Amino acid sequence: MSPKFPHNFFFGAATASHQVEGYGNNDWTEWEKANAERLAKEAKEHPPEGGWPDYILHSYPSPLDPQNYISGKACDSYYRFKEDFDIAKQLGHNAHRLSLSWSKIEPREGVFDQKEIEHYKEKIQALRERGMEPFVTLYHWPVPLWFRDKGGWEAADAIEQFQTYVARVAESLNHHITYWLVINEPEVYVFNGYFRGHWPPMMKSIRRTMRVFLKLARAHRAAFRTIKQYNPNARVGSAKNNNHFKSLGGPINAALKFFADRLWNDSWFWFIKNHYDFIGLNYYFHSSIDWGFNKNPNKVISDVGWEIDPRGLYDVLRDLKKYNKPIFITENGVADIRDAYRADFIEQHLVWAQKAIEDGVPLLGYFYWTLLDNFEWSKGFWPRFGLVEIDYKTLERKIRPSAWKFKEIIDNAKK
Ligand code: BGC
Repeated sequence: MSPKFPHNFFFGAATASHQVEGYGNNDWTEWEKANAERLAKEAKEHPPEGGWPDYILHSYPSPLDPQNYISGKACDSYYRFKEDFDIAKQLGHNAHRLSLSWSKIEPREGVFDQKEIEHYKEKIQALRERGMEPFVTLYHWPVPLWFRDKGGWEAADAIEQFQTYVARVAESLNHHITYWLVINEPEVYVFNGYFRGHWPPMMKSIRRTMRVFLKLARAHRAAFRTIKQYNPNARVGSAKNNNHFKSLGGPINAALKFFADRLWNDSWFWFIKNHYDFIGLNYYFHSSIDWGFNKNPNKVISDVGWEIDPRGLYDVLRDLKKYNKPIFITENGVADIRDAYRADFIEQHLVWAQKAIEDGVPLLGYFYWTLLDNFEWSKGFWPRFGLVEIDYKTLERKIRPSAWKFKEIIDNAKK
């Protein structure tokens, strides 16, 4: 039985500027060029457990190829966005999540490129013309080079700098946008950039991690107020990655779960209290806790080694109910180059989402991650999350069978 959803439910896919547009000039683009050789070498010397499967190794670009790690033109969506939105429309989507590139809009401190703002206006109009509600993310990780050079999020005036950008965008685009996402996954960003040191700016410090996390919460609150000044009817939130932590029994595991929940899942909401209209949930992970994390018995894994647990979505949604705010699933997806699991993945997650709604969770939309295969950060291009396959030699778009299955679910959902 296909899951059922309310008539005004939003179905769509999510994207981020750096991952699809191409032609970036920001802290990530520089970092990619400096680290591509190293990442390719590491992929060769430390393959995943059991070795790289042939279907990944022989795909283009291969994880062993330094070019894989350089975003370059990405999907060329900067120029091909109309074609991409036509596809999304054809696939039955009535909403689309995209992000703005801060570095394109403000390439130098205080200097705004009106042409780029117009470009995003055109994009948003193109979505509306196709009957899709835009959900717009202001900050999906890369920062302008000038901002990085001043110390990035650690600089004393980082929040003011971000505010200047937010104000300019809100002033120019507020008539066109209702749903704003200020920050994408603050905890994932600080975890990888400031704690593990895997992403720019490659810091490894708990103190810095906490400091930047709190800064991002302040940046969110300030952006919330700014957007409301321009449009009191705007709906403002951020996208939060929540994990389903499950204790496998005993007091130690229960204590670990308690702390993991507070730290990873809850703390962001404490810090942005009274400054959000809705919750954006990005759901990918579950962790069974047995004297450590990720001791999962479930062994269905994606191409990037993440385990698939649709039921965890239900538990995470049930937990978020306590905040009494509308919820949108702003990302949920699987890396699956063979398209072997994706259709089932989407269906099962939606079945659990429907169950959460039946249990009173105010869930209003679902965005699959992602519309097109794209640049998956430090892993580069090889992980394929898209409903649509990209041939990176020709940039040709090819709709995967699972995308049609998603359409079928959408069509049946409201009958
Ligand atoms: C991010 C995306 C990313 C996806 C898959 C999310 O954490 O918001 O940018 O591509 O997960 O890794």
